[in-house]
Amino acid sequence: PQRIQLSPSLMTMDLDQFKEQISFLNDKVNSYHVDIMDGHFVPNLTLSPWFIEQVKKISDVPLSAHMMVTDAPFWVSRLIEVRCDAICFPSEAANGVAFSMIDDIHAAGLQAGAVLNPETSIETVLPYIDLLDKITIMTIDPGFAGQRFLEGTLDKIVRLRQLREEHGYGYAIEMDGSTNLKHWKMISDAGPDIYVIGRSGLFGLTNNIEDSWNQMTREYE
Ligand code: DX5
Ligand code: ZN
Repeated sequence: PQRIQLSPSLMTMDLDQFKEQISFLNDKVNSYHVDIMDGHFVPNLTLSPWFIEQVKKISDVPLSAHMMVTDAPFWVSRLIEVRCDAICFPSEAANGVAFSMIDDIHAAGLQAGAVLNPETSIETVLPYIDLLDKITIMTIDPGFAGQRFLEGTLDKIVRLRQLREEHGYGYAIEMDGSTNLKHWKMISDAGPDIYVIGRSGLFGLTNNIEDSWNQMTREYE
């Protein structure tokens, strides 16, 4: 099997240690996960296209935006402007605009992804699944870190692997939410390619990123 890819969720970093944490992680991870919320699709606000520009000044690691927004086409155009490497829209907000968003993202030479909230089924993305570079399965309710892990969502990961195998689709499978030691066995059995790790899996383990990293890798091995 392929080695798993890790994608730290930047909204769960400590602002006062931002630069140390980024410089420590830069040569260890495959991408950074950037949550973009509008206070409407979910009742919270976190990172932004401006933040992506700032991170790009201190890191060459690919950035992946997880949009939790109602007006998905607007945010897609902003994320294309800042050249966010992977732009993932909420499938719930893509009805009627999915194809044009994917085309715009691809025309800019960037990766297109769809995110499925816990209540959303795979059927929602089937019409355009062959065009996606990534599909993210939310394993918690979106909007906040540290929420209850929803075990039932893991079936979607298994099904996405089967569909990919059967049809030769090219998407990577990512999971997001409460990726920590408690759920590690269940998650690795489901078998996503990319693990988003946040507060409970990494940043909240200790108050030093190197200690947290060592603790995480030691426990997950
Ligand atoms: C929540 C975000 C996640 C969040 C996960 O809406 O999408 O990326 O950072 O944090 P943990 O893993 O701590 O639940
Ligand atoms: Zn996220």
